[in-house]
Amino acid sequence: MEPRYRTIVQILHWLIALAVIELILAGLILKYDLAPKPLRPVLFMLHVGTGLTVLVLMIARLGLRLIHRPPPLPATVPGHERLASTVAHWLFYAMVLTMPVFGVLFVQAHGHKVVWFGLVTLPLFVGKNAAIGTLFYALHFYVGLSLLALIVLHVSAVIRHEKRGERMLIRMMPRRQR
Ligand code: HEM
Ligand code: HEM
Repeated sequence: MEPRYRTIVQILHWLIALAVIELILAGLILKYDLAPKPLRPVLFMLHVGTGLTVLVLMIARLGLRLIHRPPPLPATVPGHERLASTVAHWLFYAMVLTMPVFGVLFVQAHGHKVVWFGLVTLPLFVGKNAAIGTLFYALHFYVGLSLLALIVLHVSAVIRHEKRGERMLIRMMPRRQR
């Protein structure tokens, strides 16, 4: 039987994956002003709330990743692909953890409050400051686009392995009950 990631890691993987894809779409809709005017504040609130929630979920996931080793890859996966997958996975951690931080810092530096789903206001980490705002806005944008590129790469890698007969998707899927 193929080794799999533990259930809690699988749940976190799919929750975070869905949220991150939604965040990138919503972020681009916000940036390019594609939503009807009345929907903009709602989309903004959802983007901020979901982004902050993803930060908490990703910290939990990092904790689990540091405590537990991932299941071993199939023996047929060559060394350079093992290295590439390790690098890609750690890049995911780095990007998903820093994106919400960049978001908070640029929004605050532009002089706005950061409020989780309209309910909890975050403390001020940085005061109004145009230069800091511009810096973190640019980081949020470029790291966001790189994250999108990494997702495309990640999904292509999974498909390539599956086509080669190395079962990858099942590692992130629950076991069927007998
Ligand atoms: C959209 C955001 C996504 C993020 C941030 C993400 C992140 C990750 C990370 C960090 C791992 C390594 C697990 C660990 O060691 O902690 C992983 C594994 C995996 N992901 Fe994703 N993922 C995303 C989307 C997807 C999608 C859409 C698929 C569907 C094809 C997918 C399929 C998998 C599979 C099958 C594994 C297991 C690979 C292995 O065993 O090495 N992921 N993902
Ligand atoms: C994992 C978390 C997050 C991801 C993946 C993400 C992703 C993105 C992306 C791809 C964009 C479009 C490009 C851009 O304008 O920069 C965007 C826009 C935006 N993000 Fe995020 N974001 C996250 C968290 C946050 C958080 C926590 C905040 C605020 C506290 C935030 C505030 C914004 C704002 C205000 C925009 C619109 C910028 C504009 O109108 O030009 N984001 N986000």
